[in-house]
Amino acid sequence: MKTETIISLENVTKRFPVGEGEFTALDHINLTFTKGEFSGLVGPSGSGKTTLLNIIGSLDVPTEGKATVIGHDIASLSHKASAKLRNHHIGFIFQVFNLLPVYTVFENVEFPLLLQNKTASERKKAVMEALDWIGLADYAKKKPNKLSGGEGQRVAIARAMVKRPEILIADEPTANLDAANAHSILKMMKKLNRELGTTFIFSTHDEKVMTYLERIIHLRDGKVELDERIKNKNQAS
Ligand SMILES: Nc1ncnc2c1ncn2[C@@H]1O[C@H](COP(=O)(O)OP(=O)(O)OP(=O)(O)O)[C@@H](O)[C@H]1O
Ligand SMILES: [Mg+2]
Repeated sequence: MKTETIISLENVTKRFPVGEGEFTALDHINLTFTKGEFSGLVGPSGSGKTTLLNIIGSLDVPTEGKATVIGHDIASLSHKASAKLRNHHIGFIFQVFNLLPVYTVFENVEFPLLLQNKTASERKKAVMEALDWIGLADYAKKKPNKLSGGEGQRVAIARAMVKRPEILIADEPTANLDAANAHSILKMMKKLNRELGTTFIFSTHDEKVMTYLERIIHLRDGKVELDERIKNKNQAS
């Protein structure tokens, strides 16, 4: 099996200024992620999950240490180069879907492609394919306020995956969903992981999500407490 490193974190430390002092949100994190992994960060609220995902997604940089994402030392990237890395190679899914309410489902999913130089016909093909992946091709012309929570999150998955990113970051993607919808979107993400080889990294408190992960990294007080590789019942589904 191919084991190509796609993300490497060496002594990644993040401190935030708080009043007169500093707060250490991440404390010397050492981790590598392999291309195609389906893994997740778990840990108590405040343990550093979102802070770490933001660094992996090049939305933030470490205070100390080095984060290498798809061959780029993210702290050395210019503002423009960092935006390019995200626009082309990294997809994001959040707890709140952040669909743009005045645009249709099609336009919401098309949005990331407008940041790349794709033609209208290339965009249409990619958007309709992404809507097919999530089973909502018939919803292209609907507005987000006509969707249920589960459908909204599926559209957010299509928007994140339409550019076929190498890395998909999902920060508590099931937190606002009921059990049936949570399982349904996890199955979709697992399928995309298998078919497109996308590297998925979740943060979650949700036991249902954990049953799909092949690796669970436990964070506590900004440190890796346990890095577990597991055989899960839902992995092959
Ligand atoms: N911009 C910031 N300024 C100051 N402190 C911050 C900032 N961002 C995060 N923190 C602090 O860093 C710690 C880790 O926050 P983080 O959001 O990464 O936790 P989390 O594990 O994602 O928690 P949750 O499960 O609640 O989402 C928290 O104590 C938080 O208050
Ligand atoms: Mg968080």
